[in-house]
Amino acid sequence: MCGIVGYIGDKNITSVLLVGLERLSYRGYDSSGIAVISDGELSWWKRAGKIHELENTVKGLNIAGHIGIGHTRWATHGQPNEVNAHPHISGTPKVAIVHNGIIENYLDIRDLLISEGHVFQSETDSEVIVKLVEKYLAESTSLEHALELAINHLHGTYGLAALSETEPEKIVVCRKGSPIIIGLGDNENYVASDINAVIQHTKKIVYLDDNQIAIVERNNVRYKNVNGAFVEKTPQIIKWDSEAAEKQGYPHYMLKEIFEQPTVVRTILEKYVPSGNQIVFKDLRISPQIFKQLNRFIIQACGTSWHAGIIGKYLLESYARVFTEVDFSSEFRYRQMLTEGSEVVIAVSQSGETADTLACIREAKLHHFPILSFVNVKNSSMDRESDGVIYSHAGQEIGVASTKNYLAQLVCFLLFTLYIGRERGTITQEESDTLIIALQKVPEYISSILDKADQIKTIAEKYGFCREFLFIGRGLNYPTALEGALKLKEISYIHSTGYAAGELKHGPIALIDSKLPVVCICPSSKTYDKMVSNIQEVKARKGKTIVIATEGDTVIKNFADDVIYIPQMPEELTPIVSIVPLQLLAYYVALSLDCDVDQPRNLAKSVTVE
Ligand code: M6R
Repeated sequence: MCGIVGYIGDKNITSVLLVGLERLSYRGYDSSGIAVISDGELSWWKRAGKIHELENTVKGLNIAGHIGIGHTRWATHGQPNEVNAHPHISGTPKVAIVHNGIIENYLDIRDLLISEGHVFQSETDSEVIVKLVEKYLAESTSLEHALELAINHLHGTYGLAALSETEPEKIVVCRKGSPIIIGLGDNENYVASDINAVIQHTKKIVYLDDNQIAIVERNNVRYKNVNGAFVEKTPQIIKWDSEAAEKQGYPHYMLKEIFEQPTVVRTILEKYVPSGNQIVFKDLRISPQIFKQLNRFIIQACGTSWHAGIIGKYLLESYARVFTEVDFSSEFRYRQMLTEGSEVVIAVSQSGETADTLACIREAKLHHFPILSFVNVKNSSMDRESDGVIYSHAGQEIGVASTKNYLAQLVCFLLFTLYIGRERGTITQEESDTLIIALQKVPEYISSILDKADQIKTIAEKYGFCREFLFIGRGLNYPTALEGALKLKEISYIHSTGYAAGELKHGPIALIDSKLPVVCICPSSKTYDKMVSNIQEVKARKGKTIVIATEGDTVIKNFADDVIYIPQMPEELTPIVSIVPLQLLAYYVALSLDCDVDQPRNLAKSVTVE
């Protein structure tokens, strides 16, 4: 969580920092700040609220200087106010620090420093870092050395950037558990917590590893291991296009990303089924022999990626006949990881940086599990730390509510299931071919739902005043109900819950009355009749039903207040398509309530704290 950017060079310093922060704001957006050195003197500006508050503050100030750092915050310790915003500043000489992560032992350090006479202003864990640097700067020769001594005290995670009046020509950065990259330019250099902040300036990127420090000057960057020797690091050339970070005429990133979904499916098929009917995962890097002898997949993920993982379980168990567990990363990490030596841990993540999921990978590696990650962001920590990777090829996802990457993960899970099923001989080539041919029609199916955006908007406006929603589904579309409910609650702040429809009568049915909308995911499937019974149970209690059904289903109209039809398709594909109307429903409900769709309150795109 939180975003860091820093720059040394001749460009306009405030512009580079503010644009960088804006592009990082999906990582946290409750307060922000910048610090700049000009003529050897450090100045800083901080504001509570979104980045435009800071922009309004510095607009017209004509800030000079060619070196600075900035931060956008997602509050962990202390309210999102100006005092708690970063940078945190020391006394004399002035040092500025921006920090991502959590310092777990900050209270002990704080007490110690207070007993030594240091005075604290904020409630944050981060301020202890600047006070430690201040203390060691008084005794040491360089900012780099003072920072090294300071981080020796820290337990927890950090991505840090520091600036000091004592060495006004350098930014020192370091990381442990929270990403830091260095963007290399010509007579200029950048630092950031991820490439989005710098990609419009340079595509030459160095990824700092845990426990490494970089000393960044205008024409030189040195890397070293903490308390150790200098190391060589090779820059990577990033292919991402900064255009993807624009809204391209859409009012919100979320809507743009929903509409990009047909293209995403086509891209995945081009990448993984490049010719004929053979599925090829170039970066799988786990031997087919392991999959043949496998007893169990353990899928671990958070949020929307966890929902994709449940669909993965249904598919892998049904077609590849592998027992598959799905766990929240935050739970799996602290459970006993039992292994019989024939399991693969699958991590599912859009960002590849989610702290809980990453911590599971690291823990699972200690227990010798092979790790396969389903990841969107290339070169993310999970990408780099996994044995094998299946990229979801969704392109850059900026809206905090995940849409196109979820759909991409479902397509990847289906292809992966077919691949594993073929390796294990649990499905025939013919069965696999049939599903691949059907998958090729999915972009068309999604487009047909996108064409119904106006109808879905009307339904959204009809129910937007309701303060509670239920979502129900069965089998492969039970996770669709969970995901539809999550989309709605995270961007509209309406309480919504997803249930396996069969569970309704075991408690939730008590909630149903004439004011409760129930979204029922009911395409043609093995459990269609059971779903229809559940919908009738809702209707019998005067609940309002919004039903996702298959074209040609005329029966359903009798029990539905509103129907959104999806095309006919094999059941295995229905979760991929039926999530699209629910994404649009959430979007239009949030819009009707005037909510900030792309940056909902209290959330951040990438959750890099545990
Ligand atoms: O980057 P990840 O997929 O690991 O992120 C996991 C969750 O934080 C994420 O899916 C979150 O639930 C989204 N806001 C959902 O829209």
